[in-house]
Amino acid sequence: MAIETALSSAETLRLYEKYLIPNYIRYPVNLVRGEGSTVWDSEGNKYLDLFNGWGCNLLGHCPAAVVQAVQEQVASLIHVPNTWCTDVQARWAELLSERSFGGKAFFCNSGAEAVESAIKLARLWGTPDRYKIITFQRSFHGRTYGAVSATGQPKYHDGIGPLLAGFQYIPFGDLDAVRQAVDPQTCAILVEPVQGEGGMNLPPEGFLAGLRQIADEQKLLLIFDEVQTGCGRTGEWFAYQHFGVTPDIMTLAKAVCGGIAGGAMLARGELAPLLRPGTHAATFGGNPIAARAGIATIETIEREGLLSEAQRIGDYFQASLTGLAREVSCIRDVRVLGTMIGVELEIDGAPIVGGCLERGVLVNCTQQTILRLLPALVLTQEEAEQGFETLAEVIREVATASG
Ligand SMILES: Cc1ncc(COP(=O)(O)O)c(C=O)c1O
Repeated sequence: MAIETALSSAETLRLYEKYLIPNYIRYPVNLVRGEGSTVWDSEGNKYLDLFNGWGCNLLGHCPAAVVQAVQEQVASLIHVPNTWCTDVQARWAELLSERSFGGKAFFCNSGAEAVESAIKLARLWGTPDRYKIITFQRSFHGRTYGAVSATGQPKYHDGIGPLLAGFQYIPFGDLDAVRQAVDPQTCAILVEPVQGEGGMNLPPEGFLAGLRQIADEQKLLLIFDEVQTGCGRTGEWFAYQHFGVTPDIMTLAKAVCGGIAGGAMLARGELAPLLRPGTHAATFGGNPIAARAGIATIETIEREGLLSEAQRIGDYFQASLTGLAREVSCIRDVRVLGTMIGVELEIDGAPIVGGCLERGVLVNCTQQTILRLLPALVLTQEEAEQGFETLAEVIREVATASG
């Protein structure tokens, strides 16, 4: 059944070609509706979404509690600037703080903005002499100038220089190289506990604890970018909780508002006064709609026991993909932490993404050879099996075709 819509996918594409800047590779599909792990296009085609909103729709598409909270909020107070208080922003900060390390929140609207605020806070802390920040090769922190300068991937720097100075990109996992890189001007270490866009790279044993130790010894701030890993994605509220290592600053976005745009930076209480009035701001940051959505997201995860669902989904994919890897030689590695799921291939992943799309399953490929799944915590066992079987079928076909 076709969904009632003004435009077909083909008509929509024509407008995109004429009026949109072509900075994204887009599926040639006009999506019109989503529910749980399913989305529909304007022709009525149905897709199983295993890369739910690039990780933003952690509770699935249109989660009922978030929809209701936003509908109520939009009818009572849409926006007030941060020169006023709202109880919903205060309550949201309390919920995040209580579930992490008891810090204080600055609210913004995206991951890159959260990273920008963390960089600025680290530099304010290090001023006047210390401004350098150690980050990692294959990291991804966003596209604004501070965040992209922090990102340790040359392809994102091509042609846009000069970048913000002061970042050193160390191989992920190499504690000795981190130790050597620290100098009297270093103020912080910024790291994703699990690298997402860089290839679903899990931290080697002891790596995050080693960074904490170096930070403590050298009096550096340890910043965890949990934009992709945070808010229950990995089966704990925040990925660092798997490793028993606590950061001084943490960045959040993507899933933090259940699919509504929102971001946050949490910092230990002692650091908070450094962002004094006038140093930093975001007009829409922590607006009532994002705050209500953020509260509803946390409440839903708790009410429905979704943290353990991340574990269930991750265990299923770990076991089934590992089994597939024994059968198909083009799979080099399987890396899973909750619903962060990566499959490293020896072949290009693009035809696999295309083949899955043709069969109605949405997956992603990062770094050309790493298939990336970020399914919703509401993915049912039946959907997980259907998704895996389609993926396995396409991998087998593409592997055979590429010899
Ligand atoms: C770890 C991490 N940090 C920052 C960002 C940037 O987030 P945004 O696209 O919301 O600016 C991303 C986006 O993928 C991310 O994965």
